[in-house]
Amino acid sequence: MKIVIGCDHAAYEMKEAVKAKLEADGYEVMDVGCHSSESVDYPKYGHAVGKAVASGEADRGIAICGTGIGISIAANKVPGIRAGVVHSIETAHWTKNHNDANVLCFGARVVDLHTALAMVDEWLSTEFAGGKHERRIKEIEDLDF
Ligand code: RB5
Repeated sequence: MKIVIGCDHAAYEMKEAVKAKLEADGYEVMDVGCHSSESVDYPKYGHAVGKAVASGEADRGIAICGTGIGISIAANKVPGIRAGVVHSIETAHWTKNHNDANVLCFGARVVDLHTALAMVDEWLSTEFAGGKHERRIKEIEDLDF
């Protein structure tokens, strides 16, 4: 599985740690930046993660900023993207199981690294429940057009 990852300056160090963990776990990782802790604007990176997933260049995406909120708003601008902001293993579970989130977002200023890595594991290992949730996902997709 290929995972695209992006961040802003607030999350650069956490992004590097998440990327290292994914690579150690055998995932192919596409890093769309940023590449240092120098201040940048998060919309560009959230959008780049969303574009890579929506185009099929990557299977899933991870986008991290200070809170996870700004970068998720940017990723969700791309049609077909379901970017969910999570802050716990439980929310990481449900954002896949119920929302079939294809981009996982979180904030380096609001979750510690241990929690972040555990959320990534949970999201990657959780199955989408389908059924009535499939219908709701389709309703979300219809909002894109
Ligand atoms: C950057 O200071 C901060 O605004 C950003 O990382 C993020 O939290 C926005 O939602």
